[in-house]
Amino acid sequence: MKRIAKTLVLAMISAGPLTVAAGMVRPSMTADAAGDCSALSVGNRNNYEGDVIYQVLTDRFADGNPANNNPYGKPNAYDPARTDINRYFGGDWQGLAQKMPYLAGMGIGAVWISPPYNNLDDAYLENGNYYNGYHGFWAKDYFVPDEHWGSWADFDALVEAAHAHGIKVIIDFAPNHTNHVDSVENAGFYRDGLLVGRYSSDTQGYFHHLGERGNDQTSDYDFQYRDLTKLADLSTENDAVQRYLTDAMSTWLAHGVDGIRNDATLHQTEAFRTVFADEINRQGGAFHFGEYFIGSPDPKYDDYRTSPEATGINILDFEFANISRDVFGSFSKDMNDLSHMLEYTAADYKYENDAVTWLDSHDKSRLASIQGNQGVLHSALAFLLTSRGTPVIYYGTEQYMTGSNGDAGRKWMGSFDTTTPAYQMIRKLADLRAENPALRYGGTTTRWVNQDVLVVQRKFYGSVVVVALNRSGATYNLTGLTTDLPAGTHQDVLTGTHSGGPLVANADGSVATYELGPSEIGVWSYVEPVGGNPKVGAVGPTQGAPGYSVSIDGSAFGMPGTVTVGGVAAAIECWSDDQIIFTVPAVGSGEQPVVVQNDMGQSNSFAYKVKTGSQTQVIVHANVTTVPGEQIYLVGNVAELGAWDPAEAVGPFFNPEYPEWFLPVSMPGGEQVEFKLIKKSSDGTVTWEGGNNRTYLVPNTGATDSPVYTWQP
Ligand code: NOJ
Ligand code: NOJ
Ligand code: CA
Repeated sequence: MKRIAKTLVLAMISAGPLTVAAGMVRPSMTADAAGDCSALSVGNRNNYEGDVIYQVLTDRFADGNPANNNPYGKPNAYDPARTDINRYFGGDWQGLAQKMPYLAGMGIGAVWISPPYNNLDDAYLENGNYYNGYHGFWAKDYFVPDEHWGSWADFDALVEAAHAHGIKVIIDFAPNHTNHVDSVENAGFYRDGLLVGRYSSDTQGYFHHLGERGNDQTSDYDFQYRDLTKLADLSTENDAVQRYLTDAMSTWLAHGVDGIRNDATLHQTEAFRTVFADEINRQGGAFHFGEYFIGSPDPKYDDYRTSPEATGINILDFEFANISRDVFGSFSKDMNDLSHMLEYTAADYKYENDAVTWLDSHDKSRLASIQGNQGVLHSALAFLLTSRGTPVIYYGTEQYMTGSNGDAGRKWMGSFDTTTPAYQMIRKLADLRAENPALRYGGTTTRWVNQDVLVVQRKFYGSVVVVALNRSGATYNLTGLTTDLPAGTHQDVLTGTHSGGPLVANADGSVATYELGPSEIGVWSYVEPVGGNPKVGAVGPTQGAPGYSVSIDGSAFGMPGTVTVGGVAAAIECWSDDQIIFTVPAVGSGEQPVVVQNDMGQSNSFAYKVKTGSQTQVIVHANVTTVPGEQIYLVGNVAELGAWDPAEAVGPFFNPEYPEWFLPVSMPGGEQVEFKLIKKSSDGTVTWEGGNNRTYLVPNTGATDSPVYTWQP
């Protein structure tokens, strides 16, 4: 289905005018006159379940323009030999654009690039070593492209080239911090070349100034308000800073960006993350996932797993990556742990198919450096590509690139061999994701497991994929295996390239005993015939306000019918068999079911969080004395403030200057809200403040401070 849609899109793009891609205007989200979603400019911006993402460090991938390799002729900046990992290597957007056929040939649906905006131009000197911002995480001016990657025209050409190959563009974006407090810029940042502020002369309060964070793994205040490796922490409570960041993000979206990878979300306040995500959604949405960094086990696991619901930003799946790397890399965990991880994350994550899964990244040792056995690496890749969530391939994994820590895993790409078994496998499984909804939206069940073998089934209604993996050199007989594959002989999707053979399924669900050899990978797929009731697989974004556009993905949507949100009919923007875009109707705030109805019947329902309105950040201040163990929360009359349910109250507040407390809170702009402060004691006892409900007229936009509320006894 998706492939057909993509072909149509390609035909449209090459036949139609190309003006939108190159200009300042975002490619239109509106469909053609018939309202068919397959006429959208580049497929689906909000649901990426059908895609494989490819992550590149722009500087390390391909050099299309040697003239920009050292734009200022700085010393210690560029290494033409491409061996000093701390210098620029010369990769750029022109080079990346030229590699689109290579990516399209691998079945890639979206490319995630390094932060695209201007970084520190000078090397950063620390302990006698020179480090450069080749990775893009040392921002200087979020409003202009970094000279090393190219100009706006080069960026637009990259987007155009990607879209012409059916590939979406995701930018990395780091709103948490600028550059180092002790860089030559003194963490200074600019807007279109004009200085906005610096760290030491910060008369406008653009930064937090609380110094370097230590190693406290439990204090949200530390995580959110102190500097991360001396990178100056932006005060996102400052209205000017918030506007700067949302304006910058909008600028890139206007250049055709389809997705945002949000850096260091762990270090941003929940209110800022929520407001930032809401602004993207207000503008029509773009797939948005964040780096909420955790280890395993981690005391922050609960905050991590609930952050998508809380903020609307999907997670980079650290739990998935951490466990998978231990199972396929160091062998410190086994297949039982992998199976267990799939089970508990399915229960713990509200939208497990929206998580962004990965094995390798620019911050970790490459798996190929931990695990020398290619058979095991291939098992890991097959696992990644068939698991719930949208998989990321870090550049070079398909070429078996090595690198024994984060930095060393950022080598020059060099080889673009399209015949490697990994490249070929990614292509086949990317095609399968596009073809079989079980991989995109299905649930997961373990069908057979021991320390070395895992057989999982993915299933979405009648569509099924079964995957068998053996990370060892032993042969196992899969006795007693059952699946939901229909009776018959199912051929291996990988066509035996990893030894997989046919699987013979019986009518009672049993399968003929299957012998799984060393490093063998078997993938068997069944796609149910089209028709029947509409089936909703994904709704994205998963939250927003009345008037926002939302995409429903699934199957059997058939002829245009209706979409309801909480029982209220929504205006339809476009409708095709596997995608519908609707506008959120005026309906009560809070979680509401989205349901599709057509002449064949009614779909399953999918939970969507309706906001009262577009979000504004309010920094709420309070003056409260407490006894040890008591925390302050706020609860109010709208869904955003917990709808008077203390269990859903926002907080806890921070109290660096007790008895003063504060908390940035995301509230519906333009609404007159009512609320009260409450105390929660360590045993969960709730104490409400007395008096009348407080009222507050939330400004329409921006970030603003509330009055200081003194606890009403
Ligand atoms: C996490 C990024 O992935 C890492 O590479 C970067 O250095 C830090 N955030 C700071 O932006
Ligand atoms: C219940 C609380 O007890 C009260 O103090 C608060 O004002 C109301 N909820 C809101 O109507
Ligand atoms: Ca270059």
